[in-house]
Amino acid sequence: MKRKDSKAEKRHAMTVILGIESSCDDTSAAILKDGVILSNIIASQKVHEAYGGVVPELASRAHQQNIIPVVSEAIKKAGITIQDIQAVAFTRGPGLLGSLLVGTSFAKGFAIANRLPMIEVNHLQAHILANFIKEPGVESHHPSFPFLTLLVSGGNSQLIVVRNYLDMEMVGQTIDDAAGEAFDKCAKVMGLPYPGGPIIDRLAQTGNPERFSFNKPQIPGLDYSFSGLKTSFLYFLRDELKQHPDFIQENLNDLCASLQKTVIDILMSKLKKAAKQTGIKQIAIGGGVSANSALQKAVREEAALAGWEVFIPRLGFSLDNAGMVATTGYYKYLAGQFISLDAAPYARTTLAG
Ligand code: KG4
Repeated sequence: MKRKDSKAEKRHAMTVILGIESSCDDTSAAILKDGVILSNIIASQKVHEAYGGVVPELASRAHQQNIIPVVSEAIKKAGITIQDIQAVAFTRGPGLLGSLLVGTSFAKGFAIANRLPMIEVNHLQAHILANFIKEPGVESHHPSFPFLTLLVSGGNSQLIVVRNYLDMEMVGQTIDDAAGEAFDKCAKVMGLPYPGGPIIDRLAQTGNPERFSFNKPQIPGLDYSFSGLKTSFLYFLRDELKQHPDFIQENLNDLCASLQKTVIDILMSKLKKAAKQTGIKQIAIGGGVSANSALQKAVREEAALAGWEVFIPRLGFSLDNAGMVATTGYYKYLAGQFISLDAAPYARTTLAG
């Protein structure tokens, strides 16, 4: 007698998923086939540079302009046709509502027109599952469960225990600003364009991290706080500028290196504490700030001391991208987790299942 394939196994055979990401200021589309990312197109919005931060209305407008060309390019680059696609995975939240609405509405239109099921994706979960992205011809190295993730981006700073692809528990989070926000806001104070994080990273390479010291928060447990650092940086510069109007220009690299060291010290202290408390030695970092070279170095140095195994997505998959959305969509597809057409985006949430 022939064995009947389970639903999940049937779904597994030749799965092509379109992923859509539009939660902030990157419009992205990706095609995943059988768990492997064939294309991951990202249109970043330069329009915000002059404003020192993302302007929500401008972000939504740019998403509207970018979404169709980005999806077309992703399909073309993957060498598939629209008819090959079996499901649409889209970022439902958290993020900027106007931005999310563009991706969500596009996903719905695409799903209706092509009679496809839709899969909602939590942006934070997607950043974590970026550690499972597979690319053709690239040897994969993925964490095993359970692992601990430090998720650090422009909107989030969280510590999460990941028990399975779709089973995650947040054990710590920022009580105010995110680490990326601290980088970006301090960069703005120094007159640097948005996003300031990568610029601080670059300037810090030739600066002295011990030159200046800034306040570190005393927050109990595994939570973070970055608003005090931002304020102490601002007041420090204000006082120095009164005496030396060229203080920033003359000390830019040392300021960047010292600020970066403070942020990394804060992030590392709670990451080490969480690893100790949970006994987990598989450590992943994700989100835009995980691209920071000093953070990557600090995590690797601690790994050598504490016997951690470390996982860091490559640059294209640590910043906002649809490859991580399609990958998360793939695990939800296998689990049969679909969503109806009336799903509305959400601006705020921590971690949905
Ligand atoms: O994950 P992401 O692309 O968007 C979300 O916030 O979801 O992260 C963007 C954040 C920005 O705050 C940016 O300044 C920061 O990541 N970032 C960095 C670096 N690259 C990006 N921060 C520090 N060092 C970097 N190399």
